[in-house]
Amino acid sequence: MSHPILMDCDPGHDDAIALILALSSPELKPLAVTTSAGNQTQEKTLNNALRILTLLNRSDIPVASGAVKPLSRELIIADSVHGESGLDGPELPEPGFAAQSMSAVALMAQKLAESPEPVTLVPTGPLTNIALLLASHPALHAKIERIVLMGGAAGVGNWTPAAEFNIFVDPEAADIVFKSGVPITMCGLDVTHQALILSSDIERMRAINNPVAKCVAELLDFFMIFHQDPKWGFAGAPLHDPCTIAWLLKPELFSSQDCWVGVETSGELTQGMTVVDRYHLTGQAANATVLFDIDREGFVDLLIEALYRYSA
Ligand code: BDR
Ligand code: CA
Repeated sequence: MSHPILMDCDPGHDDAIALILALSSPELKPLAVTTSAGNQTQEKTLNNALRILTLLNRSDIPVASGAVKPLSRELIIADSVHGESGLDGPELPEPGFAAQSMSAVALMAQKLAESPEPVTLVPTGPLTNIALLLASHPALHAKIERIVLMGGAAGVGNWTPAAEFNIFVDPEAADIVFKSGVPITMCGLDVTHQALILSSDIERMRAINNPVAKCVAELLDFFMIFHQDPKWGFAGAPLHDPCTIAWLLKPELFSSQDCWVGVETSGELTQGMTVVDRYHLTGQAANATVLFDIDREGFVDLLIEALYRYSA
């Protein structure tokens, strides 16, 4: 039986690849895709989600747009990483279907209420929509099995020395999510910086030679550019967001530790930092399963297998 999920994303190259992985996996049943503002504006991330689902011929999956800005801050975008469109690189089809007229929160609430079984939320952008959902629908918390999110870091940040991008964009939203009491899996930079895609992996993908694999290879060609700067010390590009789906599909690829995680909302130098109590120093009960290591080759093989499924 396939496991119901709701994907809230800001595509975004790695968000797009997370969608492609999830939608090729019979173990998962995406009930809806909602978009957050983050890598680009809400208008562009919505358009990108529709373009990717059009490429995949999945107009059956309802899409809805979320908040245009963080809960109490102005939006910061990552066009330096993802380009002017938010998905620069490949030629993508124009959307072949329209978004729902209801909001992201209304669509997620409807899907949760209708689902006979608990649903896993998979946010891979800033947590604005998820925080609004949790705050406005407390009765639906029981319908959420878990939140498997990409965001944060136990170690260093990637947008500031202390903060990872998704959490930095909307720390107040992240604070609400980490305090919600809903079980959380945190795919932070500790693990995603090991989920590196190398040039040789991209060539394996390109050789699959179907339109989806070609698109992923071209997305990664562009995504590599930002990460080639020697300051990062990466041998490839860290494929952050697909780690969420990979953990759902194959948790044995990862090592993890249950920890208390707090979010810094007001620090002068540390806004958006996730404070991870790895040594149980605070005495606070764990609120997240934090991922620390990944079997990189197993992760790449999982992606490659997914891309072959689009050849049928
Ligand atoms: C996160 O920021 C975004 O640019 C990526 O899509 C990912 O979700 C990594 O910090
Ligand atoms: Ca993202």
